[in-house]
Amino acid sequence: MAEINILAIESSCDETAAAVVRNGREVLSNVIYSQIDLHTLYGGVVPEIASRKHIDKINQVVEKAIADSGMELKDMDAVAVTYGPGLVGPLLVGVSFAKALAYGANLPIIGVHHIEGHICANYIANKELEPPFMCLIVSGGHTHLVKVADYGKYEILGKTEDDAAGEAFDKVARAIGLGYPGGPKIDRVSKSGNPEAIKFPRAKVGGSEYDFSFSGLKSAVLNYLNTASMNNETIVTEDVAASFQQAVIDVLVGHSMEALNQYGFKKFAIAGGVASNSGLREAFEKACAERGIEFFLPPPILCTDNAAMIGSAAFFEYERGLRNGLDLNAVPNLKLGERWYE
Ligand code: KG4
Ligand code: ZN
Repeated sequence: MAEINILAIESSCDETAAAVVRNGREVLSNVIYSQIDLHTLYGGVVPEIASRKHIDKINQVVEKAIADSGMELKDMDAVAVTYGPGLVGPLLVGVSFAKALAYGANLPIIGVHHIEGHICANYIANKELEPPFMCLIVSGGHTHLVKVADYGKYEILGKTEDDAAGEAFDKVARAIGLGYPGGPKIDRVSKSGNPEAIKFPRAKVGGSEYDFSFSGLKSAVLNYLNTASMNNETIVTEDVAASFQQAVIDVLVGHSMEALNQYGFKKFAIAGGVASNSGLREAFEKACAERGIEFFLPPPILCTDNAAMIGSAAFFEYERGLRNGLDLNAVPNLKLGERWYE
């Protein structure tokens, strides 16, 4: 097979990232500049500040990704960039930068869907993984249960009706005083808490059988905290965190296992920032092992936002013939599977 090297850029939220990926599965470099410390001051991502920081950092992040790969820009076969979904300002920085770079180096440009990127992190982590399989994407902005019918072909089986799983982690963390970013902090303190201490609801929703809802769970945690403080009861942060995390895990694992069973998939993957949660990883490993389902998961560094996953997704789109023009624009609410050639 010919060698295809893609320089990929990701800037949809608060990570400025660039990577060089060969043939969709081999990472030659992966540079991530996280703005988390900056946004921690405000308790969450401030879009305007994120955009400015992306502008500050993107040049050096991309230069380092090229240098680390041991190649030069002219050796690349394409420039790939996340063009949605995400925050419009941050997306525009990446898209504009990628277009200028591609134009200057006379390279094709490939626009990548951020969620497709998350899914493709699994192709990097597991060289043998091929579609079809089912994938659960759980991130700060998305909770999607997706049928990966083929490379670049997706069908949404279920999604959240309100908050994303990561959003629930972040909001609950704020309420129990752990601060931002909530996911990793709840993950850590949950290890010393009792997941059965408090019975939080496992939400069922009216829509599709496999849709999710996390806002009720978030409210239940807030109610618990209010009631406990009004009654002067001691709040054990570790127990609240562990019980909340267990409720999220039960719903994610429950829905996924039912869908796997109904659709008859033998392979299952997880992706997105929340997929780096240690309790969730263990619960899925166990549930899949019990059912004889082959389970795939990227290492934590490929679960949270990065550009290597964008380079992987771009390769499979490149193989399908996708080339975007310089009219590529940021699409903040881009839907999965909505491409100009379909
Ligand atoms: O995929 P990602 O980096 O960005 C988006 O595309 O949204 O996901 C970020 C989300 C945040 O909500 C963060 O709190 C959550 O992933 N997260 C975690 C963990 N690490 C990150 N949630 C639970 N446990 C973790 N270990
Ligand atoms: Zn993401």
